[in-house]
Amino acid sequence: TGSSRGCFGHPPGCSLTALPPPPSTKTELPAPYGPWMEIAHDLPQLIASHRLRSHVHQLSARHLRGREELHLAHLVLSFITMGYLWQEGEEGTVKVLPQNLAVPFWEVSQALGLPPILCHADFVLANWRRKDPDGNLDTIISLPGAESLRGFILVTLLVEKAAVPGIKVGGRCRALWLFAHPESALRHPRGYPTPTRLLRGWGKGWKDNPAMPGGLVYEGVSDEPLAYSGGSAAQSTVLHAFDELLGIRHSEESSAFLRRMRQYMPPPHRAFVEEIRRAPPLRQHVLSSGDARLRAAFNRCVCALADFRSYHITIVTKYIAVAPPSALETKGTGGSHIFSFLKSVRDTTREGVISA
Ligand code: HEM
Repeated sequence: TGSSRGCFGHPPGCSLTALPPPPSTKTELPAPYGPWMEIAHDLPQLIASHRLRSHVHQLSARHLRGREELHLAHLVLSFITMGYLWQEGEEGTVKVLPQNLAVPFWEVSQALGLPPILCHADFVLANWRRKDPDGNLDTIISLPGAESLRGFILVTLLVEKAAVPGIKVGGRCRALWLFAHPESALRHPRGYPTPTRLLRGWGKGWKDNPAMPGGLVYEGVSDEPLAYSGGSAAQSTVLHAFDELLGIRHSEESSAFLRRMRQYMPPPHRAFVEEIRRAPPLRQHVLSSGDARLRAAFNRCVCALADFRSYHITIVTKYIAVAPPSALETKGTGGSHIFSFLKSVRDTTREGVISA
């Protein structure tokens, strides 16, 4: 036709040579946009089967299959989010997480029952792989400061691993032995891991954080800003499980914080801790048995747990000696004093001992 309107509606005079040049000679977008192309190619079938809308809704997370992939996706998206937010440090924060990150992060979080922020379950539990046949470990995802970060993540993972027998046997407390010797797990070959930017920057959340007073808008998810606490080993299931098992009762303020941290655990972990809580109390059983050996064994477990917490306080003290205290002050505990929290939790653990 020679007209720039193309030949739609003019079949007789339409000739291929007269078509305007196409905008591109390409017919496929590059790999990252594979999901767009798949939907586009499938349009006739998707529309005929009324599935196009649901495919569009699930565009971002639809290729993830099962919990393992979802956990890995949460790990990846949470690290990208932390990097995005804290790239310029505390002075250069943003108020909005862009929707190309916020929406898939939200979807994956909803599917897992985890909050859309870096949690202990990402940072430590999902973030390791075997480096060689000898069983040496490495992290999967890292951030600037990789060396010290790796030490911190893997040491914490070893503490988790050391707790596994204790978790498995539940009532049989001898597995708490490692907690009586925490230095064996907490010692790092090159000295204490000093996660210089971890607590100072990357792990911080946007709840009670003066650097982000309004929280964070997850674009495409909610117009209102949302507030979430940063990652903390206070979200580790093992200590919560031992506390419940041994019937440790923390002060109201400390338990409020620790209870809130349970919302940052994967739901099956949370359910496990709650199950221990609901089970017939071990402490009561030991008391009513009148068995001195049983009581001594129970008390050794309580002391091991208190010793672990004392040792942890030593580490935090050493860390604060090399990192600015302001780094930790607003973290997790809502700006209250970290040491009074950690000491109160340690002291109430000690009070769990059954006297003769
Ligand atoms: C340099 C190393 C470490 C530092 C600086 C550190 C710092 C802290 C801080 C500041 C808190 C208070 C809660 C918060 O504000 O989030 C805390 C709590 C906690 N940390 Fe660490 N931590 C370190 C290593 C570890 C390791 C290796 C573990 C092992 C699992 C651990 C387990 C815990 C637990 C369970 C809590 C909750 C309080 C409790 O139940 O006693 N921390 N830590």
